[in-house]
Amino acid sequence: MNKKYIIAANWKMNKTIDESKIFIEKFNNLLLEIPTSKVIFCPPFLTLFYMNELLKNSPYDLGAQNLHWEESGAYTGEISATMLTSSGISHVIIGHSERRQLFGETDKNVNMKVQKALSSGLTPILCIGETLVDRKNNDTLTVLENQLNNGLENVAAGDLSKIIFAYEPIWAIGTGERAEPEQIDEAHKTVRNVIESIGVKENISILYGGSVKSSNVNELLNINEVDGFLIGGASLDAEEFVSIINQTETHIKKDN
Ligand code: PGA
Repeated sequence: MNKKYIIAANWKMNKTIDESKIFIEKFNNLLLEIPTSKVIFCPPFLTLFYMNELLKNSPYDLGAQNLHWEESGAYTGEISATMLTSSGISHVIIGHSERRQLFGETDKNVNMKVQKALSSGLTPILCIGETLVDRKNNDTLTVLENQLNNGLENVAAGDLSKIIFAYEPIWAIGTGERAEPEQIDEAHKTVRNVIESIGVKENISILYGGSVKSSNVNELLNINEVDGFLIGGASLDAEEFVSIINQTETHIKKDN
């Protein structure tokens, strides 16, 4: 069976509503075929609602970049799972390193968010990854194992295949410096082992993220362990993003 890739665009704090509209028009014009890969757009909250209208009859999914674990209440600036699902949003990025590093998000917070997303019917895109110091100290695999074990505490084994995992080495995010194929292969195998040790062996999707662009995606597609990509910078440019999708589609056809 053909591998089904997942290509998620993390727009971070970029693009106004008008800019999003221009992007989607360009994206639709450039894309010659509807991709077999699952494409997920994760714009900022304000644009998310508008994008839902814009992509109404499209095969593309929408994801938020965050959520709160409580249902409602006095949490200024936060968004609940129900607000997302009732607005037609199906996915949510959880534990992105920018949330962890810049906004103090802990493994415990990540775990509560994962549980809330799952119980609300949202698909979590759970991000994990090591710093450069971790890598230099040979701690990468331990850091990944800890982030996973803590982030997945009390998550039922049966729910693990509902989660999309994203390995994002922090030193490769937005730096133009992507990880080497051997490093990605090793990290993804570790992620897979941890998930398998909790009890699920099939339908595990592990994306790679960190300076993915049209000029390096081909090499990344040749890594068997990679099930797709979480893309920041390169997803902001319609031509770049379409090129990444097209190369993925060509790779799938070639593999067949
Ligand atoms: P980047 O970001 O593609 O710009 O490196 C990836 C991410 O942060 O998800």
